[in-house]
Amino acid sequence: MQQHIPVALERCIALLTPAIEKSSNPVVIDATLGMGGHSKELLERFPNLKVIGFDRDLGAIEIAKKNLHATQERITIVHAVYDQISEVLGSMGISEVDGILFDLGVSSMQLDTPERGFAYSQDAPLDMRMDQSTGLSAQEVLDTYSRNDLVRVIRNYGEEKFATRVVDNIIAARETGKLKSTKELAELVKASIPAATRRTGGNPAKRTFQALRIEVNQELEVLERAIPQAISSIRIGGRLVVMSYQSLEDKIVKSAFTKVTASHTPLGLPIDLPNSAASYNLVIRGSESASAEEISLNARAQSMRLRAIERVAA
Ligand SMILES: C[S@@+](CC[C@H](N)C(=O)[O-])C[C@H]1O[C@@H](n2cnc3c(N)ncnc32)[C@H](O)[C@@H]1O
Repeated sequence: MQQHIPVALERCIALLTPAIEKSSNPVVIDATLGMGGHSKELLERFPNLKVIGFDRDLGAIEIAKKNLHATQERITIVHAVYDQISEVLGSMGISEVDGILFDLGVSSMQLDTPERGFAYSQDAPLDMRMDQSTGLSAQEVLDTYSRNDLVRVIRNYGEEKFATRVVDNIIAARETGKLKSTKELAELVKASIPAATRRTGGNPAKRTFQALRIEVNQELEVLERAIPQAISSIRIGGRLVVMSYQSLEDKIVKSAFTKVTASHTPLGLPIDLPNSAASYNLVIRGSESASAEEISLNARAQSMRLRAIERVAA
């Protein structure tokens, strides 16, 4: 298994530090606990910090529990989808937290475990569920969705120009029963893409696999619901830090951050009118990428976009 290197670890810690240091009993939510890479470092650096870690993947939680054993009394691990942040905080009697971190997408553990079905380079059943205890697998999506729905998914979430060709081949393969594994899907996609296009842009299966994964896990809908909950769950002085790995996720984060950091004062006035100033400030103008040095050590950091806001008023 590939060694797990948390993405932008030092930068995330630096962004959360002012919020943690302002509080006498700091609490941070790690919305995407994974193997606990970011949480472990936060818990070690801040001896009074408590972390609430969410993950929808029971396998990830098992690994995180082991990795965070030394600080187990300061971490609460919740098996939940991160659009349940408000509900979970409510059930714990917590109204606000000092920081929230999202490190979106799949983990290297999920990608490197062939039987999870996320990797087009390994042969495995078409599962792709982050939470294998619930929901439709990629196989069920491929077998049961209408042609129009499959085209929508593969075109919108995979940004695949040849979505209709891919889907026509999927529908044909349903008849022959020849679409039962990641390898068969990767080959079907490759055969659907014109040869001239196949020579550029990496493995052609990448876009269709991304699309199916997003659909299977309802990733964008969940994120749309989660970000506003996260925004309203940070206290004044608290910070929300999000790392996205593809443009559709980043668009959701950017738009939510733009909305809450915009002043309500009419354009053209030199200062904010009373009660019109925004309650949140951008900590990062636009977004940040990983450094070339980090990308050379960790390929996953290549597509990362980092955004952060701070709550400045009620
Ligand atoms: C990129 S990994 C996080 C890695 C982690 N920061 C670390 O350093 O170990 C993303 C994790 O978030 C989880 N995840 C993705 N979407 C989720 C969601 N909607 N709700 C809860 N967990 C989710 C995945 O199962 C995966 O374990």
